[in-house]
Amino acid sequence: MKQLFIRATLVTLLAVGIVALYSPSAAAQDAAGTFKAKCAMCHGADGKGGKMGTRDFASPEVKAETDAQLTVIITKGKGKMPAYEGKLKDTEIKDLVAYVRSLAK
Ligand code: HEC
Repeated sequence: MKQLFIRATLVTLLAVGIVALYSPSAAAQDAAGTFKAKCAMCHGADGKGGKMGTRDFASPEVKAETDAQLTVIITKGKGKMPAYEGKLKDTEIKDLVAYVRSLAK
């Protein structure tokens, strides 16, 4: 009986581990979808910018900005860049910063 319980616990831990392992790619997919829906009209689907005076995410200026700075710009807005505070969760904004970086490669 006790052994069965231990085995069930191990199976649960394994399942949790697998979910944790795969969630980063799920988050990246979410970020890609969010970017397409909310950001691409100004930044371009590939983040190259061009509309509304946006910069290429791969430009030296944007690369020089820290993740913390990009997070603040997305959260609080800047100039024509809308603020997403309250519209996106902190975790979604964090994933978007990572996605923006991935577009800059
Ligand atoms: C209405 C057009 C518009 C939309 C929609 C928009 N942005 Fe922006 N974004 C801008 C502009 C314009 C800037 C430049 C702001 C400045 O420096 O004055 C900017 C700046 C940024 C920056 C900082 C990089 C830089 O140029 O210094 C990031 C990161 C960013 N946007 C991400 C996003 C994300 C992520 C979304 C979607 C959730 C988004 N933006 C939606 C217009 C937009």
